[in-house]
Amino acid sequence: MDMPVRVSLLAIALALALPGTASAEQVAQVKSPDGRIEVQLDLNGEGRLAYRVLRDGKPVLKDSRLGFIFRNGRQLLRNLALEKQAQRSTDHTWEQPWGERRYVRDHYNELRAGFVEKDGDHRRFDMVFRVFDDGIGFRYDVPAQPKLQEAQIVEELTEFVVARPATAWWIPALEWNREEYLYHRTPLYEVGVVQTPITLRTDDGLHLSIHEAALVDYAGMNLMRGGDGELRALLTPGSPAPVVRRTPFVTPWRTITLGERAGALVESNLVLNLNEPNKLGDVGWFKPSKYVGVWWSLHLDKESWATGPRHGATTANTKRYIDFAAANGFRGVLVEGWNVGWDGDWFANGWGFDFSKPTPDYDLAALAKYAGGKGVHLIGHHETACAVSHYERQMDAAFAKFAALGIDAVKTGYVCDAGQIERQDAPGAPVLREWHEGQWMSNHHLRVVRDAARHHVAINAHEPIKDTGLRRTYPNWISREGARGMEFNAWGNPPNPPEHEVTLVFTRLLAGPMDYTPGIVSLTGRNGQEIQSTLARQLALYVGIYSPIQMVADLPEHYAAHPEAFRFIKDVAVDWDESKLLAGEVGEYVAIARKARGKPEWFVGAMNDRNPRTLALALDFLEPGKRYRAQIYRDGEGASFQGDARFRFVSEETIVALGDVLPLWLAGGGGAAVRLLPVAPEAVSAASP
Ligand code: NOJ
Ligand code: CA
Repeated sequence: MDMPVRVSLLAIALALALPGTASAEQVAQVKSPDGRIEVQLDLNGEGRLAYRVLRDGKPVLKDSRLGFIFRNGRQLLRNLALEKQAQRSTDHTWEQPWGERRYVRDHYNELRAGFVEKDGDHRRFDMVFRVFDDGIGFRYDVPAQPKLQEAQIVEELTEFVVARPATAWWIPALEWNREEYLYHRTPLYEVGVVQTPITLRTDDGLHLSIHEAALVDYAGMNLMRGGDGELRALLTPGSPAPVVRRTPFVTPWRTITLGERAGALVESNLVLNLNEPNKLGDVGWFKPSKYVGVWWSLHLDKESWATGPRHGATTANTKRYIDFAAANGFRGVLVEGWNVGWDGDWFANGWGFDFSKPTPDYDLAALAKYAGGKGVHLIGHHETACAVSHYERQMDAAFAKFAALGIDAVKTGYVCDAGQIERQDAPGAPVLREWHEGQWMSNHHLRVVRDAARHHVAINAHEPIKDTGLRRTYPNWISREGARGMEFNAWGNPPNPPEHEVTLVFTRLLAGPMDYTPGIVSLTGRNGQEIQSTLARQLALYVGIYSPIQMVADLPEHYAAHPEAFRFIKDVAVDWDESKLLAGEVGEYVAIARKARGKPEWFVGAMNDRNPRTLALALDFLEPGKRYRAQIYRDGEGASFQGDARFRFVSEETIVALGDVLPLWLAGGGGAAVRLLPVAPEAVSAASP
C-alpha cells in the first residue's frame, strides 16, 4: 500500500509546483507542411491560454502564455474558452521586384482558433498560427465587439519560453542610442531587456530567431527576460498606452524562425511571407544600384554638413562626385548637408530644417541636370533630427520637388536619443515625445513611404523603426540603417570589432536590408583610427550585408590608390536571383553566395572574426556543364585586422566548375570576395596548360 500513496503525493506536489498545468487541456494543434514542427494550444484550469512549440516531438518552446493588459478595461487573459477553430493550407510562390532572391515560396499550414471569455463581457479574439517548415508566426486578431471598442494595450502578455538552455546574441532595448549597439553574446538567462530580432542557439544546436513581421499601427515589440528560459513581450512605450487601437485590429505577427544551421535563419523567407503582398504595383522606377557621395568625408570631419569653408555640399564638389559616379558606372550620388538647417547645432534644431531649400552654394537644379546628362541620379537627404511633425508638414512638397529633378531615392534620418522624437499634432500645439520604435513612429514611417511612393521616390531610413519585412508590401522602402553601421569606424569608440559584421548577418540582417555603407578601402577613420578589417573584407561586405542600394563609401582618391579592389566594387551586383549561405556560425564567420539578377554570374562574400581560419567552400550552386572564371580577392599572406597587415591583399584567377571545392584562407578580421563568370568552353581549353 505504501508505494501508490507516495506516487500520488508526488503527483500532487508536482501539480502544486506547476499551477494550472494539472488540469490543462490541449484544445488545438497544427503542424508544419513537413510535419516536423507542431504548435499546441492549451487552456489551463483557470482558462488561461498558452501555446507551445515542438520540433520532431521535442519541446522548443514550453507553455508560453498569451493575453493582454488594458489601460481602459479589465485584463483579457483568464477564463477563456475555445469557441471555434479552423485550419487551412497555402503553397504558392511570389516574385520580388528586387531582393536576395527573385522567387519566394510561401508554404504553411494555418490554424485559426477563436477564444471567448466565459463570463463578464464575453470579449473574444482569434489566435492565428502559421506553421512553416522553418518556423512559426502567430498574431492576435481582435474582432469588432460591443465590450471592446477601443483597446489601450498596456502589455501584450505574449511569452516565448525557450525549453532548452541556449546562448543569445542581443542588443539592449529602450537605451539612448536606439539600435546602434554592439551585440552581446551571453547565456539566455543573462539577457535583460532586448530588441528583436534576437538570435538563440540552444545547447543541442538548434538556431532560433525571435522577431515580428508586419509592424503596422502598433508598438515595436521588445523582449524582457523572466524566469527559466522565459522571454516576455515588452511593447515600446507610448501615451496613453503603448498601443491604442479600435477594434477590429490585428497585431503584428510574432515570429520564431528555426533551423539546425545558423544559415537556415539567413535563408528563411518567413518574415517576408507574413507581410501583405505589394500594395504599390509596378515599382520598376526603383533601380537597385550603387551610390557614392560626400558622406565618409563628413564623418571623417574633413568636410562639414554646415555651410562655410569646409562645406561638403557645394556645387563644385558635387560635380566631382557626379563625374566619379559616371566614370565608374555608379547610378547614385548622395549629398548630405545640401539644405538649409545644418548650421549651428543641428542635433538640437530639427525645427530649423527646410527640406526643399538648398544652401546658397548648392545649385540643386543645375546639379540634377548635370547628373541627368551623365545617366547619374542625385540621392536626396532628409535629416529630421527628430522634428518629425515638422518634416511631415514639408515632405510631400519636398518629394514632389525631388521627383521633378529626377531624384528618385531619399535617405531619411532621425538623429536624437531614444524616446525623444518630437510630435506636434497641430501647429502651436504642445510638442510630445515619442520613441523611435513606438506606435506613432510605426505610422509615421508608413506615411513617409506611402507619400514618397506617390512621387515614385524610394526611402532609405536611418535611425529607423526596425524592419519587419514591410518592403514586401511597400517595395519603395528599400533599406534602413537600424544597427551600428560603418559610421562607427569613423568616430566610434570602440570602432566595430571583427565580430560585429559576422554577428549582424545572423541578427539585424534577419529583419531586412541594411544600408551599412561598405567599401572603406583606406581602412582608416578619423584621426587615423584603424578600421578593424582587412582590405578584402571591405569587398566581402557587398555580398555579405544585403541591401539593394550599396554605397561605395570611401573617397574617390582612396579608390584610385586601390585599383584591384575597386574593380570588384564596380563589378559586384546589388540585386539577386538567389542567395545561399555556404558556411557560417553566429559571430564567428560567414560565407554567402548570390546569383546576380538576370545574369549567369555568381558572387561569394566571406567574412571572419579575429581568428584566422580556412573555409572549404563547396561550389555546388554552379550550373552543371559550365565552367567559371573565378576572380578571387582575398587576404594576402600575413594579413590581419591590425596595423599595416590590413592591406595585405591578393587578387587572382582560376577556373572552377560545379563540384569543385574552393579553399579560402581568411585572416583574423579578414574576408574574401569572389566573382564567378561563366566562360566559353574554347576559352577554358585555351587557358588550360
Ligand atoms: C546618422 C546617419 O546614420 C548618418 O549616415 C548620417 O550621415 C548622419 N546621421 C547625418 O544625417
Ligand atoms: Ca546612424
